Amino acid sequence: MTTTLISGGTVVSATGRVEADVLVDGERIVAVLQPGSELLGTDVATSVDRVVDATGKYVIPGGIDAHTHMQLPFGGTEASDTFESGTIAAAHGGTTSIIDFAVQTYGQRLEDGLAAWHEKAGGNCAIDYGFHQIVGDVNEASLEAMRKLPDEGVTSFKMFMAYPGVFYSDDAQILKAMQVSRDTGMLTMMHAENGPAIDVLAAQLVEQGKTDPYYHGIARAWEMEEEATHRAIMLAKLTGAPLYVVHVSAKQAVEQLAWARDKGQNVYGETCPQYLYLSLEDQLGAKSDEWGAFEGAKWVCSTPLRSRAEGHQDSMWQALRTNDLQMVSTDHCPFCMKDQKELGLGDFRKTPNGIGSIEHRMDLMYQGVVTGEITLERWVELTSTTPARMFGLYGRKGVIQPGADADIVVYDPNGHTSIGLEKTHHMNMDYSAWEGYEIDGKVDTVISRGRVVVEDDAFTGAAGHGQYLKRGLSQYLI
Ligand code: URP
Ligand code: ZN
Ligand code: ZN
Repeated sequence: MTTTLISGGTVVSATGRVEADVLVDGERIVAVLQPGSELLGTDVATSVDRVVDATGKYVIPGGIDAHTHMQLPFGGTEASDTFESGTIAAAHGGTTSIIDFAVQTYGQRLEDGLAAWHEKAGGNCAIDYGFHQIVGDVNEASLEAMRKLPDEGVTSFKMFMAYPGVFYSDDAQILKAMQVSRDTGMLTMMHAENGPAIDVLAAQLVEQGKTDPYYHGIARAWEMEEEATHRAIMLAKLTGAPLYVVHVSAKQAVEQLAWARDKGQNVYGETCPQYLYLSLEDQLGAKSDEWGAFEGAKWVCSTPLRSRAEGHQDSMWQALRTNDLQMVSTDHCPFCMKDQKELGLGDFRKTPNGIGSIEHRMDLMYQGVVTGEITLERWVELTSTTPARMFGLYGRKGVIQPGADADIVVYDPNGHTSIGLEKTHHMNMDYSAWEGYEIDGKVDTVISRGRVVVEDDAFTGAAGHGQYLKRGLSQYLI
């Protein structure tokens, strides 16, 4: 077993910060040595196999990205990151666990969908991974199969009020699935957009010749997100299901979540970096020699980018401060422009939906610390501790304490990261949605279950090091 001492750094948790050394034995943290500790300054440093010097740096629990889509078949193509490339990119960015979405497609047995995801991910991940289950075909058999998911370590499932004909469930199906959620304690995750109405609006725009990517965001109006969020909340209230709304982007949707939470309902929500930093106006203004206005396809995602003039981005930051939104995931769903996004040339509806950000989430959220949007502690909470608690991993993940997995990031606040510049990212994409973003901080060293997997900007881990995470029920629920 290798012993490692991370010495001289500031250990940051969701609740505070302390100067401390962290001792790792094998895959676990065995001690956090604070000033005054008997072991501190003794021979620990000379007796360990390896010392990581964290002087002047932050030592934080590894990031947990609870919303990723590796190899997702979608929009007539497949998300371009494999479990291998996507998790290596994640490691570079200080993320040491992902929770990806296993897919049950229409007509498929739920169990087969989950098995297919184990097949894709098993032996290929560089960091630890778990699964949520997408329920794409609610019927008696799948409702029965859902009840067995917690035994498999899958304690949350996603439903779609959007994408008719693909993943869409109607209200009756959602109600039945939520009854399973109530009975089992599994978290219902909701893509809350009124898909049937959006599809009508999108078709009308295309008929008027409005085919550029920008119109994707016009069709997916915030009213469609607010309405669906409210409907999901009411169905959850009626059934007693705990609800987690994914990729929230509209300030009116946040207002719905806050309203339900103030009434004591078990309702939670995440947003994503794209809804904090990017806007519909950016998408409208995006033009390039190569793609013209189709450049905007780089940012076609659902929910869509929202208007800055309407204040959605400010509202997301505020909700992260006030805990009306509890965490930040990426919704990492990358596609290349060539052969993938370009399917939408001439008709925005055919553009595969998704943005790749898994490598940049920790940096982008740290920039929120630099600009004063969130505190250092809230950064850790939003990106690691709450995802662990929300999805039944806390204690093992999301915290630096004896007994926890040694998933640790040494982060340098004096470093600098130029995101997307010179295509230096490790995601399998031929562009960056974050080209030109400058971060006043830098991932220094990344440790996954005791193994240094990134140092000096180089990946030193291995595909296959990552293990499947059997998750417990959400630790937010009584
Ligand atoms: O645009 C997105 N979000 N693509 C991934 C699928 C989803 O809805 O999460
Ligand atoms: Zn979604
Ligand atoms: Zn998603």
